[in-house]
Amino acid sequence: MKSVSSNKELKRMVGIRAADFVKDGMMVGIGTGSTVAFFIEELGRRVKEGLHIIGVPTSYAAKLSCIQQGIPVSDCMLFDHLDIAIDGADEIDPSLNAIKGGGAAHTNEKIIASMADEFILIADESKMVSSLCVDFPLPVEVIPAALTYAEKRIRQLGGIPSLRNAVHKDGPVISENGNLILDIKFQHVPSDLALLDSQLKNIPGVLETGLFLGMAKKALIGYRDTIRMIVPEG
Ligand code: 5RP
Repeated sequence: MKSVSSNKELKRMVGIRAADFVKDGMMVGIGTGSTVAFFIEELGRRVKEGLHIIGVPTSYAAKLSCIQQGIPVSDCMLFDHLDIAIDGADEIDPSLNAIKGGGAAHTNEKIIASMADEFILIADESKMVSSLCVDFPLPVEVIPAALTYAEKRIRQLGGIPSLRNAVHKDGPVISENGNLILDIKFQHVPSDLALLDSQLKNIPGVLETGLFLGMAKKALIGYRDTIRMIVPEG
C-alpha cells in the first residue's frame, strides 16, 4: 500500500526525538514502519548505554528490529497496560485523528496504542492532511471467509474496496493475524468518521479498521526546518 519511503531524513529526525519520551523502567509499545525503524534504532542505542525498558512490538517487523537492536521484547498478550506507545501514521488530521495500516499491522497497533497511558504519533510533514480518507485508502482487516460479503457491504456504504496484493508473494497480503486487507477509497469522503468506523466494524468478518480516532494526544512531526510537537486542535 505504501509507496517507497519518502522524507527519510525527516523520519530519522522524529524517530530519534521520539526516544526522549521513553524513560527508564517503561513498558513501551513499539509501532511499525519506516519512521518507527529510526525510533527503534535510537532506542537500541540508548539501551546499550543503560536504558532499561521492555518493548512490546506491534508486528513481526518491529519485533525483529527490536531484537536486532538489542531491545528486550515481550508479547502484548501478557499485559493489560503499557506506559507509552509510539507509532507512525499514513495520514494525520489537525485533531490528530489518523489512518494507519499501510503496513497491514493496524489491528495490533490499535490494541497496543489503546493499552498505553500515552500514545504518540511520529511522522514527516507529508502525512499531515486537512481531512482523512481523501487521498490515502482506508485499510480494514477482514477474516478470509468474509471477503466477498465484506466487499459488498463496504460498497453499500459508498466505499470502493480493493484487496491488497503482496509484492514478493503471489496473491494477497496476509496480515499479522492471518487475515486479508481491503483498502477502501471513497468517491464522497464520509463526513462522520466515527459513524463510518462503527458501520465498518459492524460488518461480520471485519476485524478492525485503520481509523485511529481521538487516540493520540501528541504528534511529533518533522518539517523541513524543524520538528513540531502538535496537540489536537479544538
Ligand atoms: C503500519 C503503519 C505505519 O505506521 C504507517 O504505514 C506509516 O509508516 P511509515 O513510517 O513507513 O511511513 O500504520 O501498519
